[in-house]
Amino acid sequence: MSDGATARGSATEREEARKTAEGLEHLSGFGNEHSSEAVPGALPVGRNSPQRAPLGLYAEQLSGSAFTEPRAENRRSWLYRIRPSAAHPSFTRTGNGALRSAPFTQTVPDPNRLRWNPLPDPDEGTDFLAGLWTLGGNGDVAQRSGMAVHLYHATASMRRVFSDADGELLIVPERGGLLLRTEFGMLHVEPGHVALIPRGVRFRVELLDETARGYVCENYGAAFRLPDLGPIGANGLANARDFRAPVAAYEDVEGPVEVVNKFCGNLWAATYDHSPLDVVAWHGNHVPYAYDLRRFNVMGTISYDHPDPSIFTVLTSPSDTPGLAGVDFVVFAPRWLVGEDTFRPPYFHRNVMSEYMGLIEGAYDAKAAGKGGFVPGGGSLHNMMSAHGPDRETFDRASAAELGPQKIDDGLAFMFETRWPVSLTPQAARAEHLQQGYDDVWRGLERHFRPLH
Ligand SMILES: [Fe+2]
Repeated sequence: MSDGATARGSATEREEARKTAEGLEHLSGFGNEHSSEAVPGALPVGRNSPQRAPLGLYAEQLSGSAFTEPRAENRRSWLYRIRPSAAHPSFTRTGNGALRSAPFTQTVPDPNRLRWNPLPDPDEGTDFLAGLWTLGGNGDVAQRSGMAVHLYHATASMRRVFSDADGELLIVPERGGLLLRTEFGMLHVEPGHVALIPRGVRFRVELLDETARGYVCENYGAAFRLPDLGPIGANGLANARDFRAPVAAYEDVEGPVEVVNKFCGNLWAATYDHSPLDVVAWHGNHVPYAYDLRRFNVMGTISYDHPDPSIFTVLTSPSDTPGLAGVDFVVFAPRWLVGEDTFRPPYFHRNVMSEYMGLIEGAYDAKAAGKGGFVPGGGSLHNMMSAHGPDRETFDRASAAELGPQKIDDGLAFMFETRWPVSLTPQAARAEHLQQGYDDVWRGLERHFRPLH
């Protein structure tokens, strides 16, 4: 299917999508009560559900939290659309591809430290949804708790529309820009940005480059939010104003559109007679976002010791235990290291939390780069209580380094840190791109102990 005409058509489509992406406006802020209308007068004034909504639109509420959750937790949006979402035929089961969901019970949980190379190249014509490949996760979709780690590798724009009833999707591009067409409007993300698609929101992913590759955290639990800042104060880490929400934009398409819904771990499809991305106006706080990780305001020591990496938390999904996240999204962004008498890379560690790390670009300061190492598009898993930390080369270098001010600016790594161990899918446990011999990274850490007499 890669004849010249198809390839040219795709290139033209990508060019058009990029033009659209680069011209987008957005709304600013995280958790705001936003409102937006693509056609003046489409939003009702002073009420949500008037007897007749403006311009002949249908009014519909999308609830991301129970009606009765406290105001600070409550998430919902009102959508004013050409047809109500209820106007659809039956869904029938369709193939899940390489997408899997919790509970993950097909492999024995593995205490070993594991690392993967990037996903192999997908077939021509693989869209974002077909390109999703699940590494593992925890919890239970039906209990709305836990998370899954997915990777994606796509070579084609989606023609279909997807929504996930099981959780919100934090998309972390590593290669290739994306135009996300959502019910709320469009978002543009490039590697180094993240996008958050809330539970139940329909969207389509269009490619801005020939291929797109990256990571997805599917968060089954409470919606991601900005972490409390405590003594840091009122500003810092990810600043709310740097989050971009879309402005309303709609498709007025009559004709068959395939809509795929992820529900309790399985994909279900229906062919609508219109595009469900037909929302002309909306208001509310259950909305998609994009965020440029380079805007992250990095905090660190100006005296000694490496702070715990929770200082790098971008977004957190709280659990029912205060301070214990279902999952945290953490970024290791460019920063200065100035600690005196300090071992500066992230320290040796055993953690009750489980850590999946990915690399968006460059290198990570606790792992020497190199073939078969921790590479962009790859990932590592350090499950509950598994011992990890700098490799030997990094330890030797950092222990002997002159401790002048040092800029770490050659990489962008991130972590999904979760309260429960990550159990693997069989495809991840047996993957050809699972590295053999990852333990060797820590081989040769020499004995230096010399008791004094
Ligand atoms: Fe750790």
